[in-house]
Amino acid sequence: MSRRGAFIVVEGLDRSGKTTQTNLLCEHLSKIGDRPVKLIKFPDRTTPIGQMIDNYLRSKSELDDHAIHLLFSANRWEMRSSLLQLLNEGITVICDRYAFSGVAFTFAKSLVASAPESTRKLTYEWCRTPDAGLPAPDLILFLDISAEVAKLRGGYGDERYEKAELQQRVREVYKRIQDDMQTSGVHWISINASHEMEVVKQEICSYVKDLSNGVNEPIKSLWL
Ligand code: TYD
Repeated sequence: MSRRGAFIVVEGLDRSGKTTQTNLLCEHLSKIGDRPVKLIKFPDRTTPIGQMIDNYLRSKSELDDHAIHLLFSANRWEMRSSLLQLLNEGITVICDRYAFSGVAFTFAKSLVASAPESTRKLTYEWCRTPDAGLPAPDLILFLDISAEVAKLRGGYGDERYEKAELQQRVREVYKRIQDDMQTSGVHWISINASHEMEVVKQEICSYVKDLSNGVNEPIKSLWL
């Protein structure tokens, strides 16, 4: 396996079926590819930093919006060397949420009228900076659904960010990130996840064939 593994990120809105589709994608790549596939996820709630994030998301602790943003980013940086090791060993890595969630959720909070003043002053650039230099994915699959479809699927759960207004803002920020990624050469595919599970799966599978047997190019750095 001289080719390094592909790094594929799945991003999405709440109720978009992201977890189901990520698992299906792993199964599919294990079947069609010539190498092992590993699923990772952010936040990784198992580390000490991840536990602080988990407490915050479940409203067991309060943190300034800047502080929690930096913790989410630190949670990715602490995984950087093991992520690079997996890719260099030739393993395909599927990642459920990455730095794009970081920017989408924090910057979305700054757009909510009732946010504290210091949060409303957060800039898009500030949100991106802590993750600049992390390994860049070869492909980002963004599962998109409207707030209306999310509502039909049973609304949002109990965690801190699962509120309709914030989710709408998150969707807008993801669109902005998508436009920026188009000019950076990183491959971002937006998928209409309102369709039935099988239809969405087929569409996702159609984009990953070329990555299933590894990649020849070096790993790029995100946002540098
Ligand atoms: P996650 O554990 O993926 O929950 P779910 O499977 O329900 O989407 O993510 C938990 C929350 O954390 C989710 O609302 C998105 C948010 N988040 C951030 O705000 N910043 C980040 O950097 C990441 C990775 C997630």
